[in-house]
This record gives sequence, structure tokens and C-alpha cells, in this order.
Amino acid sequence: MNPQWICKRCGFSDELSRYYWRCPRCGAPLDLSYEVKWSPRGTGVSRYSSMLPIDPGYLLGEGNTPLISRDINGHRIYFKLEYLNPSGSFKDRGTSLSLYLAKKLGYKIVVEDTSGNTGISVATYASALGLRAKIYMPRTAPRGKKAVVEMLGAEVIETGSRHEASIRVLEAINQPSVFYVAHTWSPLYTSGAETIAYEVYEQGFRKGTVVIPIGSGGLFLGIVRGFTNLVELGLLDDMPQIIGVQGYSVHPVYRELYGRSHKGSSNLADGIMVPNPPRLTEIVSLIKKYKWGIVLVGNNEITNALKNLYRMGFIVEPTSAAALAGFYKALRQGLVTGENILIPLTGSGLKTIGTIIQLSLNNC
Ligand SMILES: Cc1ncc(COP(=O)(O)O)c(C=O)c1O
Ligand SMILES: [Zn+2]
Repeated sequence: MNPQWICKRCGFSDELSRYYWRCPRCGAPLDLSYEVKWSPRGTGVSRYSSMLPIDPGYLLGEGNTPLISRDINGHRIYFKLEYLNPSGSFKDRGTSLSLYLAKKLGYKIVVEDTSGNTGISVATYASALGLRAKIYMPRTAPRGKKAVVEMLGAEVIETGSRHEASIRVLEAINQPSVFYVAHTWSPLYTSGAETIAYEVYEQGFRKGTVVIPIGSGGLFLGIVRGFTNLVELGLLDDMPQIIGVQGYSVHPVYRELYGRSHKGSSNLADGIMVPNPPRLTEIVSLIKKYKWGIVLVGNNEITNALKNLYRMGFIVEPTSAAALAGFYKALRQGLVTGENILIPLTGSGLKTIGTIIQLSLNNC
């Protein structure tokens, strides 16, 4: 069967030869339905094309990231170096699938509203595939990020606020030639993140605990779906334990799960500050189903974990350090059941030099 878009809420379905960023009938996030087969071949994200809705080929070296282990507090930690992807974050996995589909369907212009890693990732893959990219960013987004996006040949459209960026992008997608990437909605981004589970499986991580920073939850859902497929195909006996990490400033999953909120600041981890994740219900029901958990972290804990990561030689951004901070916290709370711990280090510190300068000026 050819891959199909499906809406789990209203039953809508259609072929992948048409593109939707969300359900055209009820507005829910869509999923992709297709048969999977375990037959890894080649390298990078494309190595798992038999488990994916489309095969993007090997475009810029996405995926195939190293898994490096260290002993911390009596646990063996496996750091998955996702920040070594072509544009410096795990987003490249999903972007390679999404923009490859845009190209295949004949779109010429791709648009996205983001001030974060996805903007640079979309601009990077648009250049590689010969697509025009327009990235809507709030005026306050770091100058360096805008410069990199422009250097990649994309157009930066500045807006007053993050909210205005998401409104302006919706105006732009009224034209038929425009492909809205919509990474927080897109099942292509969760499919991309699934390949992290496939890689660590092949790299020898077979059981334990996975600590995942949650913003929109694409990374979380992708890794969960990847492990679910490995279990369903009989390659793994059990699901790993999963611990999600959110910040004090913004934590919709924690609030929905435990029915309470927390005060404090975690704005250093801007990649996980997503107030309304489109797939919130699914994330929460998976955590309940498997009796997993969420921990919250704040700026001090993030800074501390960031320092530890740099001392180990991992040049990551603060959002990635939130995952290690979350692991320390989960340990203190007695939540960790696995001996082997997988922590994806999601984004490169070389894109957040401004923050690093600020932290070192503050003598951290
Ligand atoms: C570096 C980094 N880590 C983690 C995340 C969280 O990923 P998701 O939005 O898929 O939950 C993001 C999202 O932008 C990110 O940029
Ligand atoms: Zn629907």
C-alpha cells in the first residue's frame, strides 16, 4: 500500500501525492500510514527508508551520528551526538524528509515560522534541493541566526512577535505553489526522529532509559514510535523507559499530566519553550500508558549541566543541556529504572555563542 495521510480524529485519508500540513477536514495533526520492513541499507537517514514514508536519499550527511558513552554517577550514559547533523541539530532528519517531499511534489517555495534550529535546517535543505525558502522570524531572534539563514540563500521575513510570525506564515500559504513545513505538526518530523531509535539500536543500545527534551514533542514521539516499531517487528523485547524534560518557564506536558504548574525560569532552553504542542494529547497518553514521567528544570540546573557537557568535550546548546539536567533531577527523584541511559544531544553550541558569552561573563 502506498503511504497515506490519515487523521486519527476524523478518519480523513489521502495519498502522499498531495500535501497537507494538518487535517483539511478537522484541523488535527495528521499521521502517515504505511508498511514498515526492517532492511537497513546505505547510510544516514536514508538507510532506514524501508521504515519511512519516503526515501530522501543521502542529501547532506544527515543522520548516522556517533553514540559516545561515559560513566556518570554509576550509570552508563550514551550521548547521541545529534548536534553533528549538517545544520547542527536533529531537525535535519525531519527536514530532509519534508523538503524532499516538497521537491518531489513540484513545490518551488517552502515557508516556515521559527526562530530556532528548524529555520536554519529548512534553509540548509532548501539550498541543497534548489527550493526557495522564506523563514518568518520575530525581529528579536538573534542576528547571527538571521545572517546564517540569509547566507544559505533563504529570505528572512521579520515579524513583531513569534505569534505574528505564525499568523503571517498562514497568509503566505494561501498560494498553491507554497509548501508549509509546519515542523511542530508534521509527521515527517516525527518520522525523521524515528531514525534516532533505529541508529541507536544498530549501535548497540538495546534497553534502558531515554531522556528526551520536549518542546513540540516531535523528538519524543519519533523516538517512541521508532522503539515501538522495533518491538513490534520483534527486534527488541521491551520498550525503554522514557523520561521527558521540560522547563520551568513553559511546561504544557507536565501540567496536563500532573495537573499542576511550577514557577521559575528556564529561558536558556528556548528550544523547548512551546506553549501549545499540537500533539499534546498523544504525548500525555503515551506517558500514562507506559507509566513514564516528566521532570522540570530551571536555568541554574541547565547552566550546571551545560558546564559539565563542555568539560566532557560536547559543544552543545543550552536546550540540549536541559536533557542532562533532567537526568540528574530524575536520578535525585528516584525515577530512573535503567542502567544504560540514552541522552540525545540535540543542538550545537556553535549556533548559540551569544548565550555562551553571556554565561561566561556571568562567571558561570
Ligand atoms: C536543540 C533542541 N532540542 C530539543 C528540541 C525539542 O524538540 P521538539 O520540538 O521536537 O520536542 C528542540 C526544538 O526546537 C531543539 O531545537
Ligand atoms: Zn481530521
